[in-house]
Parts: sequence; C-alpha cells; structure tokens
Amino acid sequence: MALRTSPKLDASKLRADFPIFEQQIHSKPLAYLDSAATAQKPRQVLEALRTFYETSYANVHRGVYELSERATAGYEGARQKLAVFVNAPSEREVIFTRNATEGLNLVAYAWGLVNLGPGDLVVVTELEHHSNFVPWQYIAKRTGAGFRMIPLDEQGELDLGELDVVARDGNVKVLACNLVSNSLGTINPVERISAWAHEQGAIMVVDAAQAAPHKAIDVQALGCDFLAFSSHKMCGPTSVGVLWGRRELLEAMEPFNLGGHMIRAVRFEETTWGEVPAKFEAGTQPIAEAVGFGAAADYLSAIGLDAVEQHEHELAAYALDRLAELAGVTVYGPPADRRAGIVSFNVEGIHPHDVAQVLDLEGVAIRAGHHCCQPLMQKLGVAATNRASFYLYTLPDEIDRLIAGLHKARKVFG
Ligand SMILES: Cc1ncc(COP(=O)(O)O)c(C=O)c1O
Repeated sequence: MALRTSPKLDASKLRADFPIFEQQIHSKPLAYLDSAATAQKPRQVLEALRTFYETSYANVHRGVYELSERATAGYEGARQKLAVFVNAPSEREVIFTRNATEGLNLVAYAWGLVNLGPGDLVVVTELEHHSNFVPWQYIAKRTGAGFRMIPLDEQGELDLGELDVVARDGNVKVLACNLVSNSLGTINPVERISAWAHEQGAIMVVDAAQAAPHKAIDVQALGCDFLAFSSHKMCGPTSVGVLWGRRELLEAMEPFNLGGHMIRAVRFEETTWGEVPAKFEAGTQPIAEAVGFGAAADYLSAIGLDAVEQHEHELAAYALDRLAELAGVTVYGPPADRRAGIVSFNVEGIHPHDVAQVLDLEGVAIRAGHHCCQPLMQKLGVAATNRASFYLYTLPDEIDRLIAGLHKARKVFG
C-alpha cells in the first residue's frame, strides 16, 4: 500500500461538502457506489462555477475589455492549476479538451495518422476502456499499422513478459495503456511500460481518466509522452478534460480540430497554425467548466491525493473481505493493495442488471454492464459484471449496505 504522506481523510466530514447526499433515494440514504463512472460535486466546485458566471464570464482571448480579461485570467489560471496537478514542466503543455476520450482521439488522429504506416505496431492492453482502444484500432487500420494487445494474467494484471513477444511482430511506435483500470481497479506499472516503450522508439500514451481522481499524478515520473483525463471523474464539471503532451511532440503535430482561435494567419491561399496549446483548442472552449475543473483540482489537492488513495485502498480491502463472505460471488482483479477503489464482481445465477436493480431499491447505486471494456469482458468470459466504485466520500457503512442488498438479491432471485 502507498505510504501515507497526508493526514487520513474524514469521509463523513467531507460528505457535508456534497449537496447530493442531502436527499433520499427510494426513501433510503443515497449510497453512491458509481464514482468510477462519474464523481459527485462538492459545494466548493459548484460555487466556483456560479461565482465565475456571476462575476467574470465572457469569451476568452478575444476581448480587450475588463470582463474578457477576467475570464481569460480564470481560464488560464485553471490551466496553470492543472499543470501543477500533474507536475507538467510547462502549462503550455496542458490542452483543454472535452474529456479524456477527446484527448486520446486527438493523439490517435493528429500523431497517429502522420506517423504510422505498414510495418509499425500500435500496442494497447486487454484492460483498456474503449476510449483508449477503439481510436487506436481504427487509426492502425487506416494507416496499415499492426494492432496488438498486452495480455492479462489470471489476477487481472498485465503480463509484461509478453512485451518482447509482441515486439517481434513489427516496429512498436505507440504504447497506449491506462494507469488505473476502470473495470478491475488494477494499478498498472506505467513507469516500467514507458521505459520499455521508449527503448523501442515508441511514444507512451497514458489514459489517466481513472487514475487522476484517485492518486497523485506526475507525468515526469511516469516518463510518458501524453496523458489524458476528465474533470467529471474528479469532482469537477462535465464537458472538460485535459490532454498533457510533451511540448516537442505537440509542436511537431498537425492540429486535430480546425477553426477559430487555433490559427496564426488565414489567407485565401493558406492557413498557418497558432502556438501550442492554442493550436489544439479550436473554437470557444469550455471556459467556465475549465474554471470549475481548476477548483476541483484545488479541492482534491487540499484533501491530499495520498489520503484519497489510502482511503480507497482501505475501502477496496474491506469490500473484498465482505464479498468473500458470500458464496457464489466471483470477484475479478488483483488484491486490494494493487487496486484502486473499484471492485467488479458477479453473483452466480443473477444477471448484473437484476442485482443493480435490487440494490437501487435499497438506495445503493452501482454500475452493471461491460463498463466500455468489451475486450476485457471477452477475456473474462462474461457479458457483464457488477461494479462498485468508491471515492473520498464513501463510507464503510455503504459497503455493508451493498452486502445486505446482495443478500436480498439472492432471496429475490434465488
Ligand atoms: C479508464 C477510462 N478511460 C477513459 C474513459 C473515458 O472518459 P470520458 O468518458 O470522460 O471521456 C473512462 C470513463 O469511464 C475510463 O474509465
């Protein structure tokens, strides 16, 4: 388990920051165990959004008037906060996107279309979310490059022994991998994989959608070239994310979206591109959302990402212990010390959707489905799983309610 460098967090106290928990669902207190899908929002973020709209809202980088300058300062201030959040060498390497998915597509299109071809290989893992699988599969096909996967072992962890086997099939040009799996909670050894990718002359693309909310991110320590994440999974608003990229790569790349703001000069004959990050931020950006994203980064940093990570490890360990009490429950993925606060499982003889519906009537919200990981489901030999996921506001008592709900599901469908 990670060493604790910030004080243990007090989840019951933090819950008071989240207005959503003031209501009841089906006359029961809300046990929200679906934070891996999206996280709830604290007052601090909601108030930052409201204040920005009420006092500083205008379009950015356009006007010379006071309000536009205030809005630009808010937007660029958020960029700075997010650069610090991932320890980026420069805030100019931080590109605001719509979400992690758009960040990953940006790299696949803008880097991949130009740099990949026959004889090259794009390597992903069997553990990827569709957002870090489908764009690469598609761009590999379009460019004639090969597409390979690092397989999983029995524990749901990457079998890195297979890396050198995969590399025999061509020139590895891209390695795309998540830092934390949204299905199994597996924490992947991205530093090792980055080092290997660079030995091959490949770029390392990290999907941190599930990691950034839960653990401290340091792009320099990870040794990656690109890293994407979404605001909405880390207590921030929807419709904004970040793609961090190494400056020299971003500068060499073609743009992804074309239009206003991303240009240097537009002539009848030709258009030239603006500097990074503007080159990748065409059109009106999610301005207020970026400000809210910055407020979410402040909120998490004040609590301490190490404390969040530790809290989740403890909850995951507790959930695994409690699930082990139930006969006929299959839990997928690694032991608690090597996973974030995500637990996927199936109850023998009961479809995951039926389990989730019984739990809903108990006020317990969990996810049932393929979690946008159909290749992983194929590997596990199931169509779907149940998934309970935890965050800084999750209490052990809510895991007890999950277990009680599973007993109930057994009675209903048994
Ligand atoms: C690991 C992982 N990658 C990528 C995504 C895509 O995130 P978004 O839908 O915010 O683009 C998710 C969302 O669930 C995820 O869990």
